[in-house]
Amino acid sequence: MPTMTLRKLLITSALPYANGAIHLGHLVEYIQTDIWVRFQKMRGHECWYVCADDTHGTPIMLRAEKEGITPEQLIERVHAEHSRDFAGFHVAFDNYYTTHSNETRDYAVEIYGKLKAADLIAVRAVEQFYDPLKQMFLPDRFIKGNCPKCGAKDQYGDSCEVCGAVYAPTDLNNPYSALSGAKPELRNSEHFFFKLSDPRCQAFLRQWTRSEDRLQPEAANKMQEWLGAENENKLSDWDISRDAPYFGFEIPDAPGKYFYVWLDAPVGYMGSFRNLCAQRGLDFDAFWRKDSSVELIHFIGKDILYFHALFWPAMLEYTGYRTPSKIFAHGFLTVDGAKMSKSRGTFITAESYLAQGLNPEWLRYYYAAKLNGTMEDIDLNLGDFVARVNSDLIGKYINIASRSANFIASHFSSQLLDENFDERFRSDLPDLALAADEIAAHYEARDYGRAIRRIMGLADQVNQYVDHHQPWKLARHGGKERELHVVCTMLINAFRLLTLYLKPVLPKLAQRAEEFLNIAPLVWADAGHLLPPSHLINSYEHLMQRIDAKQIEALVAANRESLTPSPVAQPEPHSPQRHAQHQQHPENNMQTPTRPVAPAISIDDFGKIDLRIARIADAQHVEGADKLIRLSLDLGEGSTRQVFAGIKSAYDPARLVGRLTVMVANLAPRKMKFGLSEGMVLAASDVDGETPGLFLLSPDSGATPGMRVK
Ligand code: 2FM
Ligand code: ZN
Repeated sequence: MPTMTLRKLLITSALPYANGAIHLGHLVEYIQTDIWVRFQKMRGHECWYVCADDTHGTPIMLRAEKEGITPEQLIERVHAEHSRDFAGFHVAFDNYYTTHSNETRDYAVEIYGKLKAADLIAVRAVEQFYDPLKQMFLPDRFIKGNCPKCGAKDQYGDSCEVCGAVYAPTDLNNPYSALSGAKPELRNSEHFFFKLSDPRCQAFLRQWTRSEDRLQPEAANKMQEWLGAENENKLSDWDISRDAPYFGFEIPDAPGKYFYVWLDAPVGYMGSFRNLCAQRGLDFDAFWRKDSSVELIHFIGKDILYFHALFWPAMLEYTGYRTPSKIFAHGFLTVDGAKMSKSRGTFITAESYLAQGLNPEWLRYYYAAKLNGTMEDIDLNLGDFVARVNSDLIGKYINIASRSANFIASHFSSQLLDENFDERFRSDLPDLALAADEIAAHYEARDYGRAIRRIMGLADQVNQYVDHHQPWKLARHGGKERELHVVCTMLINAFRLLTLYLKPVLPKLAQRAEEFLNIAPLVWADAGHLLPPSHLINSYEHLMQRIDAKQIEALVAANRESLTPSPVAQPEPHSPQRHAQHQQHPENNMQTPTRPVAPAISIDDFGKIDLRIARIADAQHVEGADKLIRLSLDLGEGSTRQVFAGIKSAYDPARLVGRLTVMVANLAPRKMKFGLSEGMVLAASDVDGETPGLFLLSPDSGATPGMRVK
């Protein structure tokens, strides 16, 4: 093997919020990173993998309050849950820490101080909605009201889910606080800003995002869009402070002002590493000083590129630290071609997967087979998952060991052939050892899908070799013992090499295979030689079970059932621009708490609402509308009414036709972008107004169109 220069690497995955469970969407990233880290370690490089819980922000504060515990208690519990889930999927951090730490606080304060000294911090008054009952400023997502454009009720402060309009919270009609129901007041408050609009930052980021292949091409293009043309100054200053009450780090010399969670989150990478340095006696500065030759690499989801490729490098650049060497962004996970959904049971938590007794390495293998190092989304197709794991891992790879091990044990006292085997191996299975460099290059490029295809191609060659030599026949004929010994020694060596190639993906399976093979932990350089003559192997125990499709059905059912509200439900994504599964902006990520029951009304008030049974005579998609279905409702009036209902995410129009539901029959007609809406159908939703989880009301049988509902 050619000698390689050894590298020093510091690797991170994005820090998950400490207010929710790890799910299969998160795991795409942690498994992707873990495979890469394990590969680098097998290559002999010095590689450190750090991560932490992202513990600050309004949602975490409110969630703790709702549970009746302190934020510190909440983040401690979640830290234990996250650590358990990651360990369960063999994600092997060198340190899994927390941003709520002295180390992170120290660096955050230092970085802020240096930015201020560099004249990159501005103070400006900001006008914002304030909840007089909760006595706090409200992030946009915590304000709801009527859409200023189409009038739809209960829309979030930043966009309307019915007509798609985007606006500021102050544009909403009849705004109310999603926390308390109170009418919010506009108040002024001083905020601190990182002056990204400063020409220094613009010039630096323009050059930084373009050079040294730090970003994938598609990410670099996105950055160019955000930065604008050469003479444009498109970046605006970044608001890095929040007012009390807030769970986070208080800003020095600014009582009642806290660092916004996204300011200290990436600093958490430094904090976690600092903590590791103390444990391992590493030199922090050697990794973080400006001229460091260590490669600093962040694995992230594509939704947080903005923070990692603009804010973070600029923060580091102007505070005397090195900037990241690479940012590797990945896409989102879909399940069976759709975004993960609680109502379909595809919002699957790591915990439930393991609790169902499913093998974490099945998922690691499947993700590896799908990942290719780009920002494209990947799909977990549950049927394909079962088929692929069974046919590749069990049918092709494990089978090689099980087909040969017993002969070696029963015919040859567990001993391999007593001759040097290299030449024979090379001529009979030439590709097997030769492919090592190529497979390594695929891992390095994070093109795991290619690595897996190559490895399974090799496994096919080995299985053809088995079929050709038919060891079971050799074993039956007397006088073919040596031939049998050759074939089985060949197979055990082939199995060892395949194990080595798969080890970054399947670390536990590899460990058990190493025990069976009676060898030291495999490293990449071991691809350069075979097992020694007369090597003794241990007895073979079955290394991996097949997946039974029923297990997957049970998993989906278990996650569907878990819809019953837990004390604090998992956030169900709701923003149309954001994706179901991955890390969202914390203030966009908060499930809306159950709205308090509205103020009392009189029976007369209620009597004003004319609710009727309606038959859905027709239901059609609406061209150009993501959310809407056009319903024709029959109220037994002899004609139909047109109603636009925002239920597309939950219903296929074809399945609605003919069913009965309940409508508000005397709602004043509203003019919408797509036509007149003459009423409203009633639907329940799990979390206030969110999709999925929309449930149209139906009457008991016997009701007919036009009946009054009281
Ligand atoms: O989007 C998220 O889930 C954030 N918690 C990620 C933070 S990554 C880093 F900057 F800390
Ligand atoms: Zn609207």
